[in-house]
Amino acid sequence: MTNDTLTSSESQIPKHIAIIMDGNGRWAEQRFLPRALGHQAGVKAVRKIVEHCAKQQVQVLTLFAFSSENWRRPKEEVSLLMGLFLATLQNEINILDKNNIRLRFIGDRSAFSQPLQDKMTEGERQTQSNTALTIVIAVNYGGHWDIAQAMQTILTKIQSGELVNPIIDDRLIAAHLSTHDLPEPDLFIRTGGEQRISNFLLWQLAYTELYFTPTLWPDFDAKALDDAITSFKGRQRRFGHTGEQIKNNSVKL
Ligand code: IPE
Ligand code: IPE
Ligand code: MG
Repeated sequence: MTNDTLTSSESQIPKHIAIIMDGNGRWAEQRFLPRALGHQAGVKAVRKIVEHCAKQQVQVLTLFAFSSENWRRPKEEVSLLMGLFLATLQNEINILDKNNIRLRFIGDRSAFSQPLQDKMTEGERQTQSNTALTIVIAVNYGGHWDIAQAMQTILTKIQSGELVNPIIDDRLIAAHLSTHDLPEPDLFIRTGGEQRISNFLLWQLAYTELYFTPTLWPDFDAKALDDAITSFKGRQRRFGHTGEQIKNNSVKL
């Protein structure tokens, strides 16, 4: 996970966009509808945003769909979300595949029902050679979990002799995160008005540009995404350098 060139983000489309899709519940509540309908409307928004990202030639879109803390919700809502997740995969995998879109999942999937785990594996296998957009769905995902599982894998490799006296540095840790083969997110978006990370990609967001919008996720459309991209394009990413160094294009990572 490295940035190959160090340039201002001006006029560049973010390669990797990571989104906390928040506000489905409030969207429904505002309309005196059950929260379930908010989640259904959220799925429709996902479809539109995926389509728009593919059109804009974004390479990776990571979507936070269910956090490791979302199990704390009422059990009816959790089972509704699981049902919606399975139904959405059943409906969408072939469509994604036809559009040359690759589907992946990050998070601890061992907590899910077998049919859901099977569908996730099937979706990943079926789309693995696709080369347009990659969609990464974060489910039962937590940034703490990701770092902890990286540490566990490193320890297991040390114990088995696959790694001998490794230096624990940022490269080694990044190489064992669930996103190890993806570019770091360039742009982070959170809808729904909260300004927090809620245990999303903690390690990976180190130098990501952050964008918060009050728009509730079901209302987040192509125009709203374009607004976020426009904000991103107007920013100067410095990665610790001075603004002058970036302007002169005198540094490379
Ligand atoms: C985000 O919307 C979807 C999930 C967490 C699954 P919320 O359900 O958190 O919506 P609000 O925050 O209650 O409005
Ligand atoms: C974050 O939203 C998780 C997802 C969007 C999947 P939450 O609604 O769960 O976040 P908090 O609890 O308000 O921080
Ligand atoms: Mg929420």
